[in-house]
This record gives sequence, C-alpha cells and structure tokens, in this order.
Amino acid sequence: MELYRTITVQTEAPYDILVGRGLLDEFSSLMERLGAGRPKLAIITDSHVDPLYGAPLLERLRQSGWQAAKYVFPAGEASKNLETVREVYRFFAQEQITRTDLVIALGGGVVGDLAGFAAATWLRGVRFIQIPTTLLAMIDSSVGGKTAVDLPEGKNLVGAFWQPALVVCDVDTLSTLPQDVFSDGTAEAIKYGAILDESLFSLLEGGKLREALLEAITRCIQLKKRVVEQDERDTGLRQCLNFGHTFGHALEKYHQFSLSHGRGVAIGMVMVTAACERQGLTPAGTAARIASCCRQYGLPTDDPAPLEILCQNCLGDKKRKGSKITLVILDRIGQFRLYPLEAQQLPAFMGEGQDG
Ligand code: NAD
Ligand code: GLY
Repeated sequence: MELYRTITVQTEAPYDILVGRGLLDEFSSLMERLGAGRPKLAIITDSHVDPLYGAPLLERLRQSGWQAAKYVFPAGEASKNLETVREVYRFFAQEQITRTDLVIALGGGVVGDLAGFAAATWLRGVRFIQIPTTLLAMIDSSVGGKTAVDLPEGKNLVGAFWQPALVVCDVDTLSTLPQDVFSDGTAEAIKYGAILDESLFSLLEGGKLREALLEAITRCIQLKKRVVEQDERDTGLRQCLNFGHTFGHALEKYHQFSLSHGRGVAIGMVMVTAACERQGLTPAGTAARIASCCRQYGLPTDDPAPLEILCQNCLGDKKRKGSKITLVILDRIGQFRLYPLEAQQLPAFMGEGQDG
C-alpha cells in the first residue's frame, strides 16, 4: 500500500502535497521526489516542535548523508516578527545557503509563515518545503503560498506569495498536539465544510474527525487546492476562505490576542450566520448547526464582547477595500456567497441597536 496520497496543486509553479502516516521517518527518500540532487538543507522549527521532530529529523538526515543545519526559535505567535526573520537570515548567511539549497519549515502555521517568508526573501527567493505539524497548518497555512510575519501594527502585515516546492503532511505528528491547539484547527475544517462541502460538514457534525482524520485532512486540502488554483493571488474567490474570519479577527483583537484564532473563527462563523438568518439570506437553523458542530470540538460559539466595538475592529481589517467590506455568507451549508457591504452598514447588518 502507498505510504501517502499525493495532491498536486496546479499553481504557476505546481507542487505536490503528500498526506500520510510515518512520512517524517521516510523524509530522506521522499526528498528524492524533488529530483534536485542533494541540496543543503536549512531546517527552521520552533522550541516545542524541535525536541519532538526537529532534532530527530536532523540526525536522520545527517546519518543519510545530507548536509543539514537547523535554526530553532521560541514557540508562539510572539516570535512571528521581523526580528526573528533577521535571526533566520543570519543563520542562512552562516550556513551559506544559496539559491540551489532548500529551506524546510517544520512546525505549525507560525513556523510555516515565518520560514516561508524568510525563504521568499533570502537571495530573492530560495525553494522551501513545508512540513506542517498542526491540524491548522496541514489543512490551511501550508497550502497556497501565503507567507508573512506580524508588525506591532497588525498581524501578517509583511509577507509574500511564495509557493512551497513540496508539502509533507505526516498525520502522526498530530498525536503530540495539545487538545486546544487541535481544536483550533477543527474550526478551519468546519469552515471548509460550511462554505464548500456539505458532506465534509456532516462528517464533522457527526463528531467523526478523529476517526476519519486522514480522510478529513485530505478533503480539506483538496478544497483549498481548488480555491487556490483559481485565485492564487487572492483577488476574488479565495476570499471565501475568510468565512467567520472578519469577526474572528475582530474578537482576537478585542481580547488582545488571548483568544486563539480558531476560537475567534468559530464564534465569527456563528455570529455572521445568525445575522444572515435574521436578514433572510441564510436558511433558519444554519447558525445553530454550525454552533453545535463547533461545540463538539470544544470550540466556543459566542462572546460577551460589545458588537459596536467588534464592528469598529472589523472596519480596521486589512481585507477592507475602500469603503466596502466583503462578508462571506452561506446560501446553505456547503454553498457560500461573497457579500460586499458598505462598511458603515455593518453594525446594522449585524443587528446592532436591535432589542433582544
Ligand atoms: P503555531 O504554529 O503557533 O502552533 C501552535 C502550538 O503548537 C505552538 O506552541 C507549537 O510549538 C505547537 N506545536 C506545533 N506542532 C506540534 C506538534 N505536532 N506537537 C506538539 N506541539 C506542536 O500555531 P498554528 O495554529 O499552527 O498556526 C497559527 C499561525 O498560522 C498564525 O500565525 C496564522 O496567522 C497563520 N496562518 C497562516 C495561514 C496562511 O495561509 N499562511 C492560514 C492560517 C493561519
Ligand atoms: N488562509 C486563507 C488563505 O490562504 O487565503
């Protein structure tokens, strides 16, 4: 039996995503797929992932004759900034990483975004491989080539589109993931089901994610692949991936980022869908279905933050275009619609000022 499934993303520079179990142990032979001889490898990882997977990977690669080095930064979003990128550049310089070498991003979305950005900008671009180790990174951030770091002024403000040369999803790595980090990733899986795939939503609704993990991850990646292939540079269709994110980001900001992204997205999906139900845009009962699905995976579905402040936060969203904000709404589960709205109409749309 094949060790992994291959999903090819047909972007300007196409690449494969391998999804399976035990792939990290086989990484050295998988690398032959690139057919690029034996480049020098620069592994970037974080302080949680390193002892679990980074150090063993480096050792195996060296034992197999690869020239490889590793840079480890402190785990967490607080490291996703230009200071860490500068440290990574120093590491590349010290290791004399050239354009024919390879950067490996081993970790969650923070590592993938930061190492991807460093790879995109070092020597005007060196190839990189994503080895995502969180559910969120497997089904979302490692696919589609968005790389970025944060500024004090906001998240992901400095970045580049830089597609990976290969993505290796070893589902076994999720066995060490803390439960709350895993459930953050489930919010994005629920999102894919809600906007694009009713049968995936039903699987998640039935509480079957852990049981059907490989299948669900593969389905999510295939859904994102289809979106990214049609809109690599995020000028239209790709906005559908922001379902629940407008209010999700507003909630994260309100809670000064003590609320995780997945939890913000879960509440955001329910909030916007409940508002759409009140406007007659989405069938009654849809928000309750999403809320019940989120609760299955330990995700919250409401928040006491004042709507007025959340709407103000939404207006500062970097995805706002001029006076317009585009909401992602559901015609029904599995079918989304982009809904542009004058930003100033957002509070009324969301029901601000209404009784009850
Ligand atoms: P993360 O990378 O911070 O990982 C969460 C925690 O899990 C960290 O402490 C990490 O060290 C730990 N961890 C990772 N893998 C582990 C494992 N297998 N076992 C044990 N611990 C492990 O967070 P995340 O949720 O993976 O990613 C969030 C980031 O992704 C945000 O910065 C967000 O902006 C970004 N993102 C990017 C895109 C994109 O398209 N580029 C999409 C969505 C999110
Ligand atoms: N995570 C949103 C995107 O890739 O466009």
